[in-house]
Amino acid sequence: MTQASGSPQAPKKIAVIIGSTRPNRIGDKVAALVKSVLEGSTPENALTPSPILSLVDIAAFNLPVFNEAIMPAMVPSYGEFAHEHSKLWSAEIGKYDAYVFVTAEWNFGLPGTTKNAIDYLYNTWIGKPVMIVSYGIMGGMSASDNLKKTLDGMHLQVVDTRVSFTFPDADPAKNNSSPGLMAAAGGKLIDPVAERWTTEGKDKLVKAYGELQAKLV
Ligand SMILES: Cc1cc2nc3c(=O)[nH]c(=O)nc-3n(C[C@H](O)[C@H](O)[C@H](O)COP(=O)(O)O)c2cc1C
Repeated sequence: MTQASGSPQAPKKIAVIIGSTRPNRIGDKVAALVKSVLEGSTPENALTPSPILSLVDIAAFNLPVFNEAIMPAMVPSYGEFAHEHSKLWSAEIGKYDAYVFVTAEWNFGLPGTTKNAIDYLYNTWIGKPVMIVSYGIMGGMSASDNLKKTLDGMHLQVVDTRVSFTFPDADPAKNNSSPGLMAAAGGKLIDPVAERWTTEGKDKLVKAYGELQAKLV
């Protein structure tokens, strides 16, 4: 059926991807915080109707270490994935017009489980816009840089503004440990950290979200 002239367009769909797969992670809480800030914002270039944001949890797909015989770049022109987990993950990512990646930093880089999940994908998301949010002792910048390089290489459109959250009250005498980091090890995003990231992170989050929406027009 053709859409009547002047009728509203369908809202764009944006996935907020939870990168960390640890059982007692904070990644799910950070992604929820980011989603809530973005939903309450009116950035420059805001689309009408407002996009619909959905959390997408890599951990829920239980992806094994990449085990497809076919290269994802050859799907579907030259063949299909053999495994159900690959089909489900790729189909989920394919539902969205854009992405907000929320990544932890493990051992000075992108968590291996996040990279593994990305390695299952190609045609389902190339060309689409993506913004990157990272968190860690140094704001997760090494992970953010790794992720940007990978997504640029896969021909996604990474927005210029990248958001990074640093655990407050780091003690240089103790390897930059902090109460927030210690709590995060056990999966708790304590209030002072959540409040800091919500208030101090808001302007940059909204700026990046505006850049993301500008690429969706
Ligand atoms: C295996 C592992 C390695 C880590 N390496 C780093 C690191 O290199 N840089 C950093 O800032 N934090 C590092 N951390 C601390 C994380 O920032 C912190 O645990 C955070 O909660 C991880 O996010 P998640 O809970 O969502 O997995 C590491 C944590 C784990 C579990």
